[in-house]
Amino acid sequence: GAPVDVDISKIEPGQMLRVAWRGKPVWVVLRTPEMLADLPKNDPKLRDPKSLESIQPPYCKNESRAIKPEYLVVVGICTHLGCSPTYRPELAPPDLGPDWRGGWFCPCHGSRYDLAARVYKDVPAPLNMVIPPHHYEGKARIVIG
Ligand code: FES
Repeated sequence: GAPVDVDISKIEPGQMLRVAWRGKPVWVVLRTPEMLADLPKNDPKLRDPKSLESIQPPYCKNESRAIKPEYLVVVGICTHLGCSPTYRPELAPPDLGPDWRGGWFCPCHGSRYDLAARVYKDVPAPLNMVIPPHHYEGKARIVIG
């Protein structure tokens, strides 16, 4: 498959862009400073907080799972049975409970992921969502693939 260009110049803080790459959904999220500050607090509740077993390029094997911490680029497929989780960036919505810190919720069997697409412990999905190979071209473009 050909690489896919994403224009990130118009993305708003907290917003998620959706593109397709090799027939898969890929998401780009511009995380706010508050979202980034929350990530380390989630570590004790996650199955693979350091992404040791999960799949990402070596340059994204870090706390934010990103090249530039503010931009998360992730393949939007649940690592359980392949559904596409729902983006739920808000804090403590009634349906997800008071502990919800923002992330993704998989409607198929209830797997939950934080805003670095890292999976929580007590859910069916075994691993963090996959980070695809990507790089920046200037400030306004990310090339996926
Ligand atoms: Fe996502 Fe099962 S496919 S929880």
